Amino acid sequence: ARTAAVIPAAGRGVRLGPGAPKALRALGGTPMLIHAVRAMAASRAVSLVVVVAPPEGAAEVRSLLDAHALPERTDFVVVPGGQSRQESVRLGLDALPPGHDIVLVHDAARPLVPVDTVDAVIEAVREGAPAVVPALPLADTVKQVEPARAPGEPEPVVATPERARLRAVQTPQGFDRETLVRAHRTVTGDVTDDAGMVEQLGLTVVAVPGHEEAFKVTRPLDLVLAEAVLARRRL
Ligand code: C5P
Repeated sequence: ARTAAVIPAAGRGVRLGPGAPKALRALGGTPMLIHAVRAMAASRAVSLVVVVAPPEGAAEVRSLLDAHALPERTDFVVVPGGQSRQESVRLGLDALPPGHDIVLVHDAARPLVPVDTVDAVIEAVREGAPAVVPALPLADTVKQVEPARAPGEPEPVVATPERARLRAVQTPQGFDRETLVRAHRTVTGDVTDDAGMVEQLGLTVVAVPGHEEAFKVTRPLDLVLAEAVLARRRL
């Protein structure tokens, strides 16, 4: 089965501070998005990458892809994104040609995911899981709170889930294509990851080991870490 990767890259990246859309900011001199595209194309199973660009930035993203060396065995398509991550992913799915039975969804904001993690996700889908997430145990204990009405106010703690049973979920998440398309057609409401939509269909999602270098670049400190990881790889 051939695999396609959809990369939602249409977010503004407000938490990273002012500047260009997050996916277009440089990491080691190369836009974060290009790193993410290369990370997907590094898997020999991936024959198509669909980049979901900022709504006004599709032409810019197309020229970026053309300007950087990318594997020739992979096709690259660019489509404009939407108002939410969910909408952006759906627009990416709409652009998929027939013939790709496995779909990965990968955040542009996770530029450094190693190819072994990508391959492990694909492998688990091939073995029959309708949805697969890379996941890591948590370092921090997690509390559920009653969110404050105003910023900075103390928040009552409601519960402490057992840490050993919790996982932080990364991308790429992998799917049987038909399952993911159905989830995006039928599930509404706020979701922060695609696998969560498949759970709402009542299907089983499985977790495989994630990787610490697949962390999401969200805040300024994450950029410092990402630069350090890149520098170490280039040694
Ligand atoms: O905001 P968050 O960090 O969860 O975004 C995850 C990914 O979703 C990022 O790669 C971002 O560019 C993408 N996104 C998108 N369209 C939006 C919002 C976010 O493609 N409207």
